[in-house]
Amino acid sequence: MIRGLLALAAAASVVAVKPGADLPKVDVDMAEISVSGISSGAFMAVQMHISYSQMINGAGILAGGPYWCAQDNVALALTACMTDPELISPFYLEGIVRATALSGFADDTRHLANSRVWVMSARNDTVVDTGVVKAAADLYSAFLTDPSSQIEADYTHDGEHSQITVGYGNPCTTLGLPYINACGFDAAGAALKHLIRRELVPAVPGAAPQGTMTKFSQAAFVGALFTDAFGLQDSGYVYVPPQCEGQKNICALHVAFHGCEMTLDDIGQQFVYHSGHIPWADANGIIILFPQAKSNLLNPKGCWDWWAYTGTAYASNVGAQTLTVKRIMDSLSGQPLTPNTTLSDEDLSARLEAAYRRAPGAAEAAAALLSKRPNVTAQA
Ligand SMILES: *[C@@H]1O[C@H](CO)[C@@H](O)[C@H](O)[C@H]1NC(C)=O
Ligand SMILES: *[C@@H]1O[C@H](CO)[C@@H](O)[C@H](O)[C@H]1NC(C)=O
Ligand SMILES: *[C@@H]1O[C@H](CO)[C@@H](O)[C@H](O)[C@H]1NC(C)=O
Repeated sequence: MIRGLLALAAAASVVAVKPGADLPKVDVDMAEISVSGISSGAFMAVQMHISYSQMINGAGILAGGPYWCAQDNVALALTACMTDPELISPFYLEGIVRATALSGFADDTRHLANSRVWVMSARNDTVVDTGVVKAAADLYSAFLTDPSSQIEADYTHDGEHSQITVGYGNPCTTLGLPYINACGFDAAGAALKHLIRRELVPAVPGAAPQGTMTKFSQAAFVGALFTDAFGLQDSGYVYVPPQCEGQKNICALHVAFHGCEMTLDDIGQQFVYHSGHIPWADANGIIILFPQAKSNLLNPKGCWDWWAYTGTAYASNVGAQTLTVKRIMDSLSGQPLTPNTTLSDEDLSARLEAAYRRAPGAAEAAAALLSKRPNVTAQA
């Protein structure tokens, strides 16, 4: 116990850095901010986009599913949102998005209207069913002005559950660490080409980085005592290509979320350097933020929180991880930091839960779920 406290005290003193003080100085184009992710990172990207659609205008989803798919319930996360997409209730989830926004726990859904969305499910993915990814696209359709042009979907490439790249990582249909597979397809590039609203200069996959990777303190944004409970590493990474360094040019910002087990040991570095984003960043002047999750008792695999291990608010704009990443984005783009003082407010959780219960379709969705799978809630 005492040793634990000393360790905490030591950690706290290490992170005396002011939030964002160690982030590079850049000029972010506020009209060109997007997010993407693989697997739990894809769920996280969706949560970020729905929560902060006033700032974020596009989301890339590789092997992830719709907003609030898991509904605070790990049993649903493991069934409906991975292998049994027929258990997903699109009408209910749409109601949840609307109720969350109406209650002020996500930006107004009209900010989603002009968003771009990119989804991909590789054909040999044995972890997240293609139906789950399609459900994410379907849910977005309810909020976009012209879904057929705003959503790009790719279900045609081979690949296991992984960050799909041209030539880095495991053989294409292998499942395993580092969950980056060489499939002759550039998923990062495909997502960026759709999400960014200008013609991109083609990049050479695997090209050596020309810019600077900065390791910065995530802990400074939450306080060192909270990183464990929040499932966040002490440090994250941001990549700045040469043309964006020192505020030389106004540059797009893209946030790339890794998947589960991808920050254990040095594996996070592999995603950061080999996800496929860097060559596109260099060729086009795009800043890439790589936030880093970490494992804790409730989250042994170091996944992003998409089933509530950090609390009920996880998917909203006051979630421990969503709000922290938003604050990092604020800092990087020179905006005032969104306050984080509300995170531990019990009253806030109660209000959020009340909003979820009021969502249209909540009762029907619960009944439908129970009839399809009588004991799914009992497992939670
Ligand atoms: C991957 O999926 C495609 C399409 O279903 C299939 O043709 C191919 O044989 C699969 N590859 C492996 C190694 O299972
Ligand atoms: C809020 O952020 C500050 C740093 O800006 C940090 O010191 C504090 O611990 C954070 N509070 C919570 C509840 O996360
Ligand atoms: C679910 O219920 C069925 C029958 O009601 C039972 O056979 C099965 O073992 C249960 N599954 C779990 C995981 O509890």
